[in-house]
Amino acid sequence: MGFAMSRTILITGGAGYIGSHTAVALLEQGYSVVIVDNLCNSSPQAVKRIAELGRNEVAFIQADVADHEALSKVFDEYPIEAVIHFAGLKAVGESVEQPLMYYRTNLGTTMTLLEVMAEHEVWDLVFSSSATVYGDPEVLPIPEGAPTGPTNPYGRAKLMVEDICRDLAASDPRWRIALLRYFNPVGAHPSGDIGEDPTGPPNNLVPFVMQAAVGRRDKISVFGDDYNTPDGTGVRDYIHVIDLALGHLAALSHISEGCREFNLGTGTGASVLEIISATERISGNKLNYEIVGRRAGDIATSLADPTRANTELEWRADRAMETMLQDAWHWQSKNPNGFTD
Ligand code: NAD
Ligand code: WQD
Repeated sequence: MGFAMSRTILITGGAGYIGSHTAVALLEQGYSVVIVDNLCNSSPQAVKRIAELGRNEVAFIQADVADHEALSKVFDEYPIEAVIHFAGLKAVGESVEQPLMYYRTNLGTTMTLLEVMAEHEVWDLVFSSSATVYGDPEVLPIPEGAPTGPTNPYGRAKLMVEDICRDLAASDPRWRIALLRYFNPVGAHPSGDIGEDPTGPPNNLVPFVMQAAVGRRDKISVFGDDYNTPDGTGVRDYIHVIDLALGHLAALSHISEGCREFNLGTGTGASVLEIISATERISGNKLNYEIVGRRAGDIATSLADPTRANTELEWRADRAMETMLQDAWHWQSKNPNGFTD
């Protein structure tokens, strides 16, 4: 298997959207990869494709990261040197409906993971945080030092996990933690073999638009055209999932003592209408859309100031919006029903 030969990284939630792309990037760089995922929002098919794309074996354990005994066994079995922690629930609307489930899962998985890491003296952690911790930003682009103020249970749980990590690092200098605040991840692996495959109607714009382009959705609802933005629709800092995956590799190699926050974004934005018209052009299909009311909790503009990650992690997101949508379309048109086929 070669697990003792190269650095072994545990990826929790590695069968999911961002985790699968990160797993492939790690395999390509010669790391050994162990994935723990309970598949509550992903498919075993993704794990198979990770191994194919990464041209290497992947150790896969189907388990709940909050299960102390199961996780401890994984650390006993593999020489894990660092952990990238993706496992968790991520639907903002659902977190408002079922806050306890979100706090239980997103805090519980992290607490168990941190305990098991300490018991096995593994101190390097890269955590999936989110730009959602900033809430409605006062300054644009948003630097890491901006005030936090998440507006929903999902975002508050992310900030709580960040606080737990900061407290832990302050308590013991052996911890080395990178908190990566992702902006809006989109796109797919250029092979079109892995990508985003949401269950049910997508909550996020790009997967919804892609499903409309492939004929799975009749109409796109544009949530408001009266924002203070150039065309009135929401502007976001979309980042290619491959750039995001590479951000995790950069964080692993530059991780240092303590706990540090990093924005992972491009620093430039696109509007809802720009995404729709670019997707029409790329897919060659006319899209049916309707302007409807604003979605509760949405903000006008979100843009990262990625300077800290650019300088301290020597990382930059350089894939253009066009590439993000082309790759998303390649994945969607090659796999119209996601991993179900
Ligand atoms: P995803 O749902 O595709 O991946 C998460 C994975 O975790 C899934 O495979 C799921 O089965 C697994 N999982 C969930 N609960 C688990 C548990 N208790 N035990 C084991 N596995 C479990 O989501 P994603 O888009 O890849 O997001 C990955 C991480 O990044 C999440 O923590 C998410 O909150 C964060 N994030 C995502 C975005 C985004 O827009 N996609 C933005 C910012 C932050
Ligand atoms: C983008 C833009 C919508 C759907 C969410 C989470 C955030 C992070 C990333 C995890 C907005 C508009 C959307 C649709 C639309 N996730 N839109 N019609 O809301 O910026 O961020 O995902 O951490 O926490 O909140 O992303 O893709 O949902 O929306 O008009 O059907 O598209 O209003 O302007 P968002 P999104």
